[in-house]
Amino acid sequence: MKKITVLGGSPLNGEITVSGSKNAALPIIFSCILTKGVSEIENLPDIGDVRSALSILREMGAAVRRSGDVTYIDTSSLTYVTPSERLVSSIRASTYLLGSCLSRFGRCDLMPFGGCAFASRPIDLHLSACKSFGAQLRRGSLASDGLCGANIDLSLPSVGATVNAILLAASAKGESRIGGCAVEPHIDALIAFLNSCGADIKRQDREIFVKGRRLHGGKIRVIGDYVEAGSYLVASLILGGDLSVRGCPTEDMSAVLDALRLLGAEIDIRGDCIRARLEGKSRRFKITAEPYPGFPTDLQPIFAPLMARFSGGEIEDTVWPTRFGYLKPLSSFGVDSAVFGSRAIVYPSRPLPAVCNAPDLRGGFSCLMLALLAEGESVISSADIILRGYADLEEKLSAVGAHIKIKNN
Ligand code: UD1
Repeated sequence: MKKITVLGGSPLNGEITVSGSKNAALPIIFSCILTKGVSEIENLPDIGDVRSALSILREMGAAVRRSGDVTYIDTSSLTYVTPSERLVSSIRASTYLLGSCLSRFGRCDLMPFGGCAFASRPIDLHLSACKSFGAQLRRGSLASDGLCGANIDLSLPSVGATVNAILLAASAKGESRIGGCAVEPHIDALIAFLNSCGADIKRQDREIFVKGRRLHGGKIRVIGDYVEAGSYLVASLILGGDLSVRGCPTEDMSAVLDALRLLGAEIDIRGDCIRARLEGKSRRFKITAEPYPGFPTDLQPIFAPLMARFSGGEIEDTVWPTRFGYLKPLSSFGVDSAVFGSRAIVYPSRPLPAVCNAPDLRGGFSCLMLALLAEGESVISSADIILRGYADLEEKLSAVGAHIKIKNN
């Protein structure tokens, strides 16, 4: 386990470049299981979740090679093996094995799919999609003698269930329609990649139309990570200084930038580079996390320290209504808050150095921002969970003036 030691109190100055999107990279990697051949993926982020996903593919016989910024994944000859529980239980995206393994091998064992434990994370929609495409559940395994196209409507726009439905439909026999789907930018990235592999997939608003095909290797450049970009913009406002965040997918970030404007920040966008500055008075503001194009749930924990640093605010999460467990470790840094059902009030607070455990990926980054702000030394343990989603964290922050060291415990 790694721990982060921080000497807080320094502003951030210079430029940070965001890496490829975690939530786009993971479905693309798992979708390679459907394809036979070599895929070329540019801009894969070097993060824990991507390493775990690639290890799962290697266990099935994939050859993975990195050259510069391109990762080559050869899935010409794969065999189904039950993946290691350690890997499957460490990442949420392992649920994408359901769609990809059913498509390629006609089977997939149900396993303790992992990820951040910020709420109960059901897979009922994933399972019902698998059944609609012709899979049956027998003794802890899903199996099918050949998937058939289906016409399904998701009862809520789950990102994971939409990914699995696409993976099932892409190589199923015949045509499919997936209604009520998620429309996050990473869904379009997956569709673009699969189409480069020979798939026939079109999205129109919240409906996806698929004609099943045999798939070969494909090619894509992973889009920039809007959650990482938003995280560093918030860090720059909290810590002060003059930081530019480069590589931002600006067109996917409207809800995030609007929320920063509610605080009173001025946003300067030049190409893919964003600067956020707070020169006037800050305002108390409210954010409501909703499915895309709404404000992203993954950034609501990151906004809590921003509210605490300035005039306070209110957070509501309609995607994960109980996603407020991170407020407890934040309280050790002096952040006052109160939770009322799916809403939390964050009060203006004076940050103190603290020692804590990272509660989850995004909550861990929130603790890190408070550690960078509070004058004195703070220590965050169980930091591997933050490195699951933030590439080159120590290098990126050190280069813009933060005093941060990441070491093995
Ligand atoms: C993905 C992201 C995660 C993000 C979340 C919401 C990855 C690896 N993870 O998670 O970072 O926080 O989207 O944007 O991309 N639900 C059900 N039944 C199901 C599936 C989901 O009821 O079978 C509910 C969940 O309880 C939740 C909502 O749907 O309330 C959204 O979940 P979902 O979009 O599926 O999240 P994930 O795909 O797990």
